[in-house]
Amino acid sequence: MTAAPQPFGLLAEVTHQCPLHCVYCSNPLQLRDRNDELSTGDWLRVLDEAAGLGVVQVHFSGGEPLVRADLETLVAECRRLGLYTNLITSGLGLTARRAESLVSAGLNSAQLSIQGDAAESTDLVAASKRFDKKEEAARIIRGSGLPLNMNVVLHRLNLSRLDAIIDVCVGWGAERLELANAQYYGWALRNREALMPTKDQLDEAVEVYRRRKAELGQRVELLWILPDYYEPYPKPCMGGWARTALTVAPDGVVYPCPVAAEITTMEFSSVHDHDLAWIWAESPAFEAFRGTDWMPDPCRSCPRKETDFGGCRCQAFALTGDAGRTDPVCVHSPDHHLITDALARANQRDAAVDHTLVYRRPTVAARGL
Ligand code: SF4
Ligand code: FES
Repeated sequence: MTAAPQPFGLLAEVTHQCPLHCVYCSNPLQLRDRNDELSTGDWLRVLDEAAGLGVVQVHFSGGEPLVRADLETLVAECRRLGLYTNLITSGLGLTARRAESLVSAGLNSAQLSIQGDAAESTDLVAASKRFDKKEEAARIIRGSGLPLNMNVVLHRLNLSRLDAIIDVCVGWGAERLELANAQYYGWALRNREALMPTKDQLDEAVEVYRRRKAELGQRVELLWILPDYYEPYPKPCMGGWARTALTVAPDGVVYPCPVAAEITTMEFSSVHDHDLAWIWAESPAFEAFRGTDWMPDPCRSCPRKETDFGGCRCQAFALTGDAGRTDPVCVHSPDHHLITDALARANQRDAAVDHTLVYRRPTVAARGL
């Protein structure tokens, strides 16, 4: 057993309800029902236990976290506990009054997502016509005094619009923009054929990113999240399994990362049955891939094993059915052909071929958001 390090961040997925239906949603394929969501009292206990564990940042996410009417109570508890708070939002449902009450409760920052540079891209990717609401949300966030952080997931259907996407975010007053190339598990894996970019598209987008980063300098911080399928080595996912952060799902089940619910061969514990300290330090699921002792070859004897920790456990499971295998993205992985085959298809395919998109299944209309 490797001694448990201290976690730094908590992703509090307070609900899976959401007004959007994104084709790359990072929530599990089986969404948690609203009736199974943790109560306010449960979340207050979880936040208290997180602070006791050493967590310093709480990211309120979903679904759309604004759906929860008790968000202010949770943010206020974080402030009492000395925890930094960040709201990850689609912006739908954000009013000036709500922003004001969240800031009064102690909210420190907000991250607004967009799907592209225009209404058509929001409709195509998220089956929503509310691009106007996103612009309004950006105005509200800035008006509330919070810094405006933005995020866009990049893929085959919007990469060629990168210049225009950056223009929109700069125009709306973003101070930081995360350009997140899609990661292919969950809903995005279902839609991989439609979303996987070509090498040419990516090369052009990297040029745009570099040019705009140099132009914008300190004014807007641009971050490029690597498209791992095109990399020779995997990303150090989550900074290593159960090493720096944990995710509490709406129903109270605790995961080492937001996607791990998809690993159906593992059992994860709930805050209904155990406290966070036990789950973090002792639960079998958190211990399973902590450190490097669990690694098979080629990772076991690889000099990069403390750099990328063998890659992503969720991706290994999604592609091979075994979460304990080397991430197939790695050129040394015996399963690497799964990646090169997918890239070959993406690069040979006629860009005009239409692939039907599978949208995240409809959820409750999120109370009119
Ligand atoms: Fe990383 Fe394992 Fe590949 Fe080495 S063999 S680069 S540790 S994934
Ligand atoms: Fe779960 Fe990478 S997304 S470990």
